[in-house]
Amino acid sequence: MMDDLRRAGRSAVDLAVDHLAAVPGGPVWRPVAEADRSWLTRQPLPGAGRPLADLLHDVRDRILPYPMGNGHPRFFGWVNSPPSPAGVLVAPLAAAMNPSCAGGEHAGVLLERTVVRWLAELVDFPYQPGAGLLASGASVATVIALATARQRAVRRQGHNVRETGLYGQRPLAIYVSAEAHSCVRKAVELLGMGSRYIRTVPVDGAYRMETGALRRLITADREAGVRPFFVAASAGTVNTGTVDPLDEVAGIARECGLWFHIDGAYGALGILAEGARHLYAGLERADSLVLDPHKWLGVPVDAGCVLFRDPVEARDTFSLVPPYLRDDEADALGWFSEYGPEQTRPFRALRVWATISHLGREGIVRLVGRTTRLARTLAAMIEASDDFDLLAPAVTSVIAFRYRPATLDAAATDALNQAIPAVVRGRGHAFLTGTRLSGTAALRACILHPETTEADLTALLDEIRTVVREATA
Ligand SMILES: Cc1ncc(COP(=O)(O)O)c(C=O)c1O
Repeated sequence: MMDDLRRAGRSAVDLAVDHLAAVPGGPVWRPVAEADRSWLTRQPLPGAGRPLADLLHDVRDRILPYPMGNGHPRFFGWVNSPPSPAGVLVAPLAAAMNPSCAGGEHAGVLLERTVVRWLAELVDFPYQPGAGLLASGASVATVIALATARQRAVRRQGHNVRETGLYGQRPLAIYVSAEAHSCVRKAVELLGMGSRYIRTVPVDGAYRMETGALRRLITADREAGVRPFFVAASAGTVNTGTVDPLDEVAGIARECGLWFHIDGAYGALGILAEGARHLYAGLERADSLVLDPHKWLGVPVDAGCVLFRDPVEARDTFSLVPPYLRDDEADALGWFSEYGPEQTRPFRALRVWATISHLGREGIVRLVGRTTRLARTLAAMIEASDDFDLLAPAVTSVIAFRYRPATLDAAATDALNQAIPAVVRGRGHAFLTGTRLSGTAALRACILHPETTEADLTALLDEIRTVVREATA
């Protein structure tokens, strides 16, 4: 078996590298051929097994030809980076070790402590041992943060949410900007806090949370007998890459006794771009900060992270150690599984460690700096054109814009911009996704690929023009 694995493993390495090398020269995305779709979705459960080498033929012929597109330098959709080479290199080794990083004394757990500290250091968040853990992504990291905040709020009323739930509590209000990611609302709903108690704080013309409105909403809730408890600011919104006025939000949170959460899933690393640090003032004051190594950093999916100011509160929220999990040799921090909902936990830390070790802090600064500069270039191209509008200032590496033909009215322009992303994707020369901003259809380009060039940005705009020309011809 080991000889088979060695032989097939060598072929798998070649397949992976050939795939990565071919991606930039191929289409960004292609539809799945009918025969392959049928194979992908309808295979019967195999009765007898097959040799390892055989499996690779299917991977080569039926799976690798249909990537999502995010390995390509002209992929500008959502927030999905190409995989870091170091992450690709070590992923099979994590599988070979296959530990559960719930806890115990082994490399997976010990390395996770280091990478969590490194992530905190990268964004200058005050690190305390035990105050953070990896998760599948920002969505789960946000659930961990909100659950912890909920427990603290209920503890302050002399109860334990784990015993009583929220029964008998006054409703707890959650404040997010109109531009917050949907993962916050999902977490609120999941934790039984009720989306009715989410207060949507308006944003200013640059899509930043309006702190005056935040204050007014908090006051109104107090007067209505609702308890203000959690404010989530963004360090890099998904629509426009905007950073909220973190320091001001931190001040209001402290003054009003709210938990201060920052969603830096995509944009926290933007603090490393030249001249950007002042935008992030106040990040270090958060009670919890979410940032995703599987976004800007390029760690192969999945790798999210939540950092806490205080490690004790997360443990108080999640720790449950039955006799069969008791570890009398554990150090004072205990197990990772005491700080979040996952018991068996994958060895995510190896991919994060390898990616950061390969790039070093300097390489990460270069990556963030380069992609941020490209975003500024795209914004400048849009502003210099007479057929596109820039919809928000370029702050990080997300650009929101709109195609604006001279001849169409507002409704037709809206319909056109809504239709553009799917048509662009279908042609395979570029990949972008859309959104809605201030009630109208918008295009957005998120630049994360280290090999994207200015020529790719020109190609993106030209591709949109071509699509529109063909649609209106
Ligand atoms: C700002 C922001 N927050 C949260 C998320 C959710 O992250 P995940 O998909 O890793 O759960 C995203 C995803 O793009 C995001 O951009």
